[in-house]
Amino acid sequence: MVKVKTQFVCSSCGANFAKWQGQCPSCGEWNTLTDDAATVAKYAPEAIAEDSKKFALGKAELSGKVLDYTNISDISPSDKKARLLTEFKDLNTVLGGGILQGSVNLLAGQPGIGKSTILMQICAEVAKKEKVLYVSGEESAGQVKMRAVRLGASGKNLSFASSTSANDIAKTIESGEFKLVIIDSIQTVAMNEISSAPGTPSQISQCGNLIIRAAKKSDTAVIIVGHVTKDGDLAGPKILEHLVDVVLNFEGDRYGGFKMIRAIKNRFGPTNEAAIFEMEEEGLKEVENPSAALLAERQNTDGSIILATVDGNRPLLVEIQALATKTSFGYPKRATSGFDLNRLNLLIAVLEQRTKLNLSDVDIFLNVVGGIKIKDSAADLAVCIAIASALTGRKLFEDYVVFGEVGLGGEIRSAFRPAQRIAEAKKLGFKHAIAPRTTKDPAGSKGFVLGVKDLRDTLIKYVNEK
Ligand code: TYD
Ligand code: MG
Repeated sequence: MVKVKTQFVCSSCGANFAKWQGQCPSCGEWNTLTDDAATVAKYAPEAIAEDSKKFALGKAELSGKVLDYTNISDISPSDKKARLLTEFKDLNTVLGGGILQGSVNLLAGQPGIGKSTILMQICAEVAKKEKVLYVSGEESAGQVKMRAVRLGASGKNLSFASSTSANDIAKTIESGEFKLVIIDSIQTVAMNEISSAPGTPSQISQCGNLIIRAAKKSDTAVIIVGHVTKDGDLAGPKILEHLVDVVLNFEGDRYGGFKMIRAIKNRFGPTNEAAIFEMEEEGLKEVENPSAALLAERQNTDGSIILATVDGNRPLLVEIQALATKTSFGYPKRATSGFDLNRLNLLIAVLEQRTKLNLSDVDIFLNVVGGIKIKDSAADLAVCIAIASALTGRKLFEDYVVFGEVGLGGEIRSAFRPAQRIAEAKKLGFKHAIAPRTTKDPAGSKGFVLGVKDLRDTLIKYVNEK
């Protein structure tokens, strides 16, 4: 076999190449190929073969020692540790009762959604009792100060440092001087030992590792900011999500509307809770009663339906709006905001096939009010009724809410957490709920639930007020 002499090695993934290239074909990193002798020697096929020979099964003595194990009943659970409370009640619930001492949390969200804002607010609250450090690699001290003034954050316990060195940050965390350290953001920090640019996969995972080790050693709570790409993925490697204890997703509309924080991973708490916020002049505010806020500007026109949905553990009443207009160019247009377009197309097919509605020459637009994104399958029935109502110009009674999943046969299927949906609707003064027929009436309100089992019958019976 012809032996290819290795001349270049990727410092990010270790792949070998005979020629230099700008981008590593193996891992896709830019400017990582190097002919530095030490790096080439480390990743040379001979060196790797040598290593694997050394540790080949059966050949080497086991060099480890027997693990130092403990009976499970003698271990004190880590949730006995102190939790740092934020000023936001729902956010504390999302975190599992506050920020756990020694935990590493990742706050991921699009640029401009309010990550730096909420972290400054958290700092301000925690700094009333504990020492807090805010490290920023993105903004200057002056910029951060401006935000702090706006949010009313001050006090002798709240410190700021501007740094992009993961080594320095880790050393500071390790000193144990602070109870809480914020790192804004992981994409801007870099380790001296790695030559690739900040924000590259190797930098992010190695810096993450370094910071986590320091946090665990000194029992410091750390919150790391991570930017996400347009598709909602964390920019950089998924590996950071595996390394940290808690991953919080900050999502919603950047320009007005509601924003939500939910935990998509939590080693110390639930992952089905959500906290809802609104951006105001003085920072983010928790929305106490999101259903009422969402319904405040409602106008009961045709095509407007109130959906009783559940987000995580939280019931929510949201307005679904549909608009149906005549298609002016042969091919009908369907567009959505806050709802899955594929699901809309499927529901349109069901409506055409199972009811007598003709939708082949109408454009259909669907909007979920308030910047909310609906993933609940029980939104189906509300969407179908909204479309039927928009098309026929007939309304549903004003004090009705709707929920239920629609099957391909036009049958209405049950939804999860029906009791919570019903309770929220009743609390906000609604009189009836059109819901799958398995749904039970709330206590003391017989006849509240109008049970339905078929889409066509439902439309005929309830979409009728001109
Ligand atoms: P920011 O927290 O900097 O977003 P991120 O760190 O996620 O990139 O701020 C988001 C937006 O919020 C910014 O455009 C300005 C606005 N904002 C307010 O409306 N009120 C406020 O009190 C603050 C601090 C920011
Ligand atoms: Mg920011």
